[in-house]
Amino acid sequence: ELSPIDKAKFVAAKRACDFVEDGMRVGLGTGSTAAWLVRCLGEMVRDDGLRIKGVPTSSRTAQLARDVGIEVISLDEAKWLDLTIDGADEFDGDLNLIKGGGGALLQEKIVATASDQMVVIADIGKEVQHLGAFPLPIEVIPFGWQTTQALVEETLISMDVLGRNSTLRMNGEVPFITDEGNYILDLRLNRIGNARQLALVLNQMPGVVENGLFIDICDAVVIGYGDGRVEVRD
Ligand code: A5P
Repeated sequence: ELSPIDKAKFVAAKRACDFVEDGMRVGLGTGSTAAWLVRCLGEMVRDDGLRIKGVPTSSRTAQLARDVGIEVISLDEAKWLDLTIDGADEFDGDLNLIKGGGGALLQEKIVATASDQMVVIADIGKEVQHLGAFPLPIEVIPFGWQTTQALVEETLISMDVLGRNSTLRMNGEVPFITDEGNYILDLRLNRIGNARQLALVLNQMPGVVENGLFIDICDAVVIGYGDGRVEVRD
């Protein structure tokens, strides 16, 4: 018997499988909700003969996809994807997102941007009025990361963004390392006024590789509820 939160994630993932058609190249997201999706798709491959090629957004997802029998190819082999299905840490009324709680934001954004369609799967708890309660993940180059951190914070002060404390994401005693060998700064903002502008400004900084704001990338959100209901917003 699933807990309400897991049930919500599961039903959203299950419903999102309806978007997947035979022969598609599909971007596979990262996180606990996306893991339900990968398992559902694996079942469809095994039991219904669904033929898809999956492009994983992390080494974790690549491993899971192979384990459940999905054919895994690289993004460059796929070149372009029909669809990406991924989780999110927050989504707002315009279907803009914060992602990267799982640390895979860079590959997730590359894959989602290379897709005709991006569908997000999330439990209703991820819905927000304004993005920013969830700390914004920023992937930075390890070289001079403290200098980059200072630049990020000073720039936010000059932009009058409230709440600008950032912390280096840790993995126990050592820095968390992304699949691409970078660090992550988690930036506590509370409320992001102009997300579009913030995303552009952050990505202008030399040590910043990518940020977790997904603006105008997501086409639909499949929302799961703890009682098993599902709602699609697009
Ligand atoms: C991974 O980097 C994130 O973008 C995930 O998509 C996000 O953290 C959602 O994870 P859950 O589905 O586990 O909440």
